[in-house]
Amino acid sequence: MNTDMESLLSRRSVRSFTEEQIADEDLLLILEAGRLAPNGKNQETWHFTALQDPQKLRALDELVVGPNNSFFYHAPTLILVSIQLGSAYEKEDTACALTNMMQAAHALGLGSVWCNRINNNHDIDTQLSDYGIPEGYRVTGTLAVGHVKGDYPPRRKPKEGTITIIRA
Ligand SMILES: Cc1cc2nc3c(=O)[nH]c(=O)nc-3n(C[C@H](O)[C@H](O)[C@H](O)COP(=O)(O)O)c2cc1C
Repeated sequence: MNTDMESLLSRRSVRSFTEEQIADEDLLLILEAGRLAPNGKNQETWHFTALQDPQKLRALDELVVGPNNSFFYHAPTLILVSIQLGSAYEKEDTACALTNMMQAAHALGLGSVWCNRINNNHDIDTQLSDYGIPEGYRVTGTLAVGHVKGDYPPRRKPKEGTITIIRA
């Protein structure tokens, strides 16, 4: 099987990371994959904030889940996707960007997981001015990225009965 296809089929969510930070060039490639993702009418009403400052990461955890807990599994990098308020394709664009970034992370040998806490808590949106979210944007999804600690999860067995093919 071609390696792009192999990479696509073997990506899994990773929830255990080493403390080592990811390389700058890998971060830039992941962000590039995010901003080149398909998006509604190619309006690109998104912004990507890569958070790598350990103090800020801890403070964000404290804000979202309280002390001694991590909604992004203590990953060394958290990418926040924010979308301009009123964008018609908020959810779709967020999903496309996050999926592209997950696949990019996997292709680079890194682990990632979509972390869905901030966007479920509208109270937190207003407290993110210190996190590089542009005025008039709201966080719609976050991606934890890092080096995988332990074994990479095996390929998932998809649910049966979820495909229909209609031929002439
Ligand atoms: C919309 C969405 C929200 C998710 N939120 C979380 C989350 O908050 N925390 C988490 O650990 N995983 C989260 N995930 C990851 C899913 O649990 C994961 O994709 C699913 O179990 C399938 O496993 P796989 O990604 O390893 O194939 C989310 C995935 C999606 C698409």
